[in-house]
Amino acid sequence: MKANIGLIGLAVMGQNLVLNINDNGFKVAVYNRTTEKTDEFLTGPAKGTEIVGTYSIEDLVQKLETPRIVMLMVKAGTVVDHYIEQLVLLLDAGDIIIDGGNSLFTDTDRRTKALKEKGLLYIGTGVSGGEEGARHGPSIMPGGHPDAWNRVKPVLQAISAKVDGQPCCEWVGYGGAGHYVKMIHNGIEYGDMQIICEAYQLMSEGLGLSADEISSIFAEWNSAELSSYLVEITANILAYKDEDGSPLLDKILDTAGQKGTGKWTGINALDLGIPLTLIGESVFARCLSAMKDERINASQKLPKPVNRFEGNRQEALETIRNALYASKIISYAQGFRLMREAAKEYGWTLNYGKIALMWRGGCIIRSAFLNDIKQAYDSNPDLENLLLADFFVDAMRQAEPGWRKAVILSIELGIPAPAFSSALAFYDGYRTARLPANLLQAQRDYFGAHSYERTDRPRGEFFHTDWTGHGGKTASSTYNV
Ligand code: 6PG
Repeated sequence: MKANIGLIGLAVMGQNLVLNINDNGFKVAVYNRTTEKTDEFLTGPAKGTEIVGTYSIEDLVQKLETPRIVMLMVKAGTVVDHYIEQLVLLLDAGDIIIDGGNSLFTDTDRRTKALKEKGLLYIGTGVSGGEEGARHGPSIMPGGHPDAWNRVKPVLQAISAKVDGQPCCEWVGYGGAGHYVKMIHNGIEYGDMQIICEAYQLMSEGLGLSADEISSIFAEWNSAELSSYLVEITANILAYKDEDGSPLLDKILDTAGQKGTGKWTGINALDLGIPLTLIGESVFARCLSAMKDERINASQKLPKPVNRFEGNRQEALETIRNALYASKIISYAQGFRLMREAAKEYGWTLNYGKIALMWRGGCIIRSAFLNDIKQAYDSNPDLENLLLADFFVDAMRQAEPGWRKAVILSIELGIPAPAFSSALAFYDGYRTARLPANLLQAQRDYFGAHSYERTDRPRGEFFHTDWTGHGGKTASSTYNV
């Protein structure tokens, strides 16, 4: 009997996905560049299963039923192109290649188009949930050539996480849409992690709470509106003790790594002109954390405020909880707003309710909160911005006073809270009908004759003023928004 699907790349995510596919009753053939890894897998985790090992791509392709499905779980970038080049020589029209890595959406777009010309159906899919998710049910975000969807749907939906019986896997859209949505997921993941870190630092350094105390607070917050995988694991991490009985967290070096998906999200937001401030701050916060030696040096030369917290701890904790929740809402509102712009720019029809549903289970950002987002888009699929949904208008109204106090506390104590504070600045800007950009336009016109529109004239009519009496009457010919 031929295998239903082939998988290339037996690193931990690949291995776990194969085991998951096998558990769901599909026959899988596997290939890995280094044969030892294949042998170790077959004699180890895959022992006693129906999983078939192969030792060349030719052999893998021969072992598959037609039309074939080959899934790549390899490092994003040129490695993906390398395997595609080999597969193209062996596959027939109508066969499907799935890339399940964290590929850049523009690469996926290019590959979908190039393979379409060869009669092959390409899918680029986000797979989120880490090792555990891959093994027991990840969130899967497939996009690419739509003709491939019906063929791969039974496998991908079977292995995905389920919430209320619904699979956390739905077709996202053409070309790079699946990987785009995964990129936004990762950007939001960066934001969620950063705001949790800011809450942690305010509690530990600001309020002087111990790791155990903070662990209990996160555990408590995890039972209400902040309930999420990342808050849950944060409570566990804080409670974890090193061999000497002290919190392991205190011994972990404060320099964050990153593989690039958060940065891509920020770059895309700049490209599309959408303020994605919270995720942007989260990427920069990681960059700042990595400048460890420079920070140590600066910490000796640039003294911090000497203020100490003197208020009511319980009240302060409540304000930090408000800041965490309100900032989270801002982050998702910005992320979904960016997706809306991307859909317009790249010609996708994104279903935001379905995206929220896909993220409700299996993935790193899974949370109760995504249910509220799903409901907001269910009741208005054309919602311009999440912040305008009744539920979130109310939530922000309730959280705002505390959030503002938490930001003030961070400023007074000199504890950095870039995501909390920039989210608040965004919120204040977003709900301001008149911003100081009138002055900005005047400045541009003053030094560069860039022209401006007037409030007392129709939009689209541009004016230039000779501000000094020495300038000419000619406006700059380019007016780029
Ligand atoms: C997921 C994660 C995963 C990501 C890691 C590391 O959804 O399972 O987003 O895809 O690669 O979390 O990301 P960084 O190294 O950039 O933090």
